[in-house]
Amino acid sequence: MSPTARVLVVDDDEFGTAAADVVLGLLPADEPRLGIATGGTPMPLYAELARRAQRGEIDLSAAYLIALDEYVGLGAQDCLSYSAYVHTHVAVPLGIAADNVLVPDGLAPDPNAEAEAYEQRIDDLGGVDVQIAGIGSNGHLAFNEPGSPLDSTTRVVALSGQTRSDNARFFDSRSEVPHDAITQGLATICRARAVVLLARGPEKAAALAAALAGPVSTEVPASVLQRHPAVTVIADRSAATELPDRLETRARNRL
Ligand code: PGA
Repeated sequence: MSPTARVLVVDDDEFGTAAADVVLGLLPADEPRLGIATGGTPMPLYAELARRAQRGEIDLSAAYLIALDEYVGLGAQDCLSYSAYVHTHVAVPLGIAADNVLVPDGLAPDPNAEAEAYEQRIDDLGGVDVQIAGIGSNGHLAFNEPGSPLDSTTRVVALSGQTRSDNARFFDSRSEVPHDAITQGLATICRARAVVLLARGPEKAAALAAALAGPVSTEVPASVLQRHPAVTVIADRSAATELPDRLETRARNRL
């Protein structure tokens, strides 16, 4: 792992608070551009940000939200789309206008062109200040599945069987999980000025250890973060069980 990376290992009930503290500490005050991961892992973080906004402790209403990915075939009106997720769990609770929310259009007639345009939109906005990311049980980062080039940019990808099975819990059945997605590439994600990688649950333990302590490899796409100069990892105890002692020791010292 890059020498500047921080690894925080926390109890599950303090996950949201710890993640919120880290993210808010990294965000610039002026028009922050926050990269949004979807899925189950960041939910305690978004709930904590919403709580703090509701209490008037933070004001992120001028922030831009930039999603990592979207399913091809699901539109913003579909409650299972990542667009719906970003609006429901982040934009609305934080009082962020829809104009400040960027998500690839899963219904674009030409998904490849949409992917290219999305990459450009991120650049035009000045890039991402703080990217929140999760990790797949197969080591994927956003929808960059094993085998993804480390220098990849935003593009259309086929979801792996593992990812479709993992995400089936959000759908009525596995067969309803889309087969393709538009995802920011690994190089796109690495252009964020800071990355906060979140992992919860024992099913993430092997992938997290491989990403942080194994070789940088296209087979473990999240390992590309070892090359990023400003990564903070927040893991609950069950996701941290396979981390080598040297990483966890550093974590405990920093808590
Ligand atoms: P999850 O997904 O948070 O729903 O586990 C994480 C990921 O696939 O990156």
